[in-house]
Amino acid sequence: MQKRPFRKVIQVAATLAFFVLPLAAQNPDYDQPYRPQVHFSPEEHWTNDPNGLVFYQGEYHLFFQYNPEGDQWGHMSWGHAVSTDLLHWHELPVAIPEHDNTMIFTGSVVVDHQNTSGLCTHGDCLVAIYTGHTQTSEGIRQTQNLAVSLDKGRNWAQYPGNPVLDLHMADFRDPSVSWDPIARHWIMAVSLPKEHKIRFYSSTDLKQWTQLSDFGPTGDINGDWECPDLIRIPASNSAKSIWALKVGLNPGAPQGGSGEQYFLGDFDGKSFHQSRLRGSHGWTNYGKDDYCAINFNNLPKDQKPVLLGWMSNWQYAAKIPTTPWRGQMSLPRRLSYISDPAGLALKQEPIVAPLRGKNYEISALSTNTSALYGSEHTLQPPFEIRLHFGHPVEPVFGLKIFSDPQHWTEVAFDTAKKEFYIDRTHSGAAISPDFPVRTKAPLVTTRPYDLTLIVDRSSVEAFAQDGTIAMTDLVFPVSNNLQIQIFPDDAKPIQSEGQLWELKSIW
Ligand code: FRU
Repeated sequence: MQKRPFRKVIQVAATLAFFVLPLAAQNPDYDQPYRPQVHFSPEEHWTNDPNGLVFYQGEYHLFFQYNPEGDQWGHMSWGHAVSTDLLHWHELPVAIPEHDNTMIFTGSVVVDHQNTSGLCTHGDCLVAIYTGHTQTSEGIRQTQNLAVSLDKGRNWAQYPGNPVLDLHMADFRDPSVSWDPIARHWIMAVSLPKEHKIRFYSSTDLKQWTQLSDFGPTGDINGDWECPDLIRIPASNSAKSIWALKVGLNPGAPQGGSGEQYFLGDFDGKSFHQSRLRGSHGWTNYGKDDYCAINFNNLPKDQKPVLLGWMSNWQYAAKIPTTPWRGQMSLPRRLSYISDPAGLALKQEPIVAPLRGKNYEISALSTNTSALYGSEHTLQPPFEIRLHFGHPVEPVFGLKIFSDPQHWTEVAFDTAKKEFYIDRTHSGAAISPDFPVRTKAPLVTTRPYDLTLIVDRSSVEAFAQDGTIAMTDLVFPVSNNLQIQIFPDDAKPIQSEGQLWELKSIW
């Protein structure tokens, strides 16, 4: 891979700005302002949570909460896209439409390898377990239901015995189902949002469910609990795995609005037990814009779990200034965990390398503010930056990404406040009073000061401290031509080295 010093990068990039444009979006249907170039978004209309993530016969399936009729929430159905590499998505027709006054809320898809359900006709098949949201004369009823596909997720039939689980409740949703290879049965984690409980069930046939246990209330209970996900997590440095239980919280997350907490511990086949070690409760994302992330079922055994979420926040999702679509997904990330003297932590590594194009080296001497700020030298998103900062000699250091002297976004370490942060208070369009914020995560001084940043046309995804901090924030810059500055500046240089890649559009 070709490498050049960063100072030159910016100069080269100035010229590149003209040449990069056609690279950015080859498909005119995906070339509107703010249209993400490395993140999935539906061609048109509204989306929220990812649903039924599953790998099957060489394809990754992304189903998603979708309104086929417009760009606001409503008529919830499952949209559908497939990919062979988790990055390039091909959108297909709606998979499971709303029907008979029932909306199709969030849920899972499993591969029923042994036809435990009796719903497969030839060998295995895909079974969706989703929440049906029905307006009845007595009010709202949420129940768990099945649908089956015999043709790789293209066509779905409702199971005639639906619902398979009904507590006669208005709030009972978002089943996460996976196969327990030891007990040889299915496990469901499903939310009782108002009671701040995740309830576990087991089943041998996906139709009859036996209640096992409840987890919660614990951790953060300032809002509804939604979108649970139970995931076996390998260690990044040894063979021992642990379990993570991820729980969505809306509203009331620390950054405001919707957010996601995780618990690390053990699932003994019946109950989840949170570890007593430090770090066993954290936030899957410390930014504002990653919600209802779930992991892929049925991945090949040698792959780490892959998590993908909805890149928005219920506080302002309806006001996102994009058309003809509204809503996008985060990048997929591989999950592991670390255990070090500071405690446990979930580790996330974004999958993006296959999109890398031209590569430039960033060196410590490239931080001359005057050379960059206000200059003509610009970059076009999408791009990726990986940086390692040396031992901090300055209280605050990081990157400033800006589109003009009045509009910028800061991604930085604040060692005085012991925070890693993204500050988007000056990033551009403030679409709601809840939008201009500085999102922050606690710094662990014994973990490395490293940073991976993926900048797309309307988002910044940051991974810091060995991937133990993930921070995803939407931004709506005033211009697509961005400049980058490492700060502080040459006056007090900070040791930093790394690389920058232009990323190729997935469209
Ligand atoms: C979370 C959520 C889920 C629900 C879905 C409805 O974003 O509220 O709990 O199943 O969205 O679209």
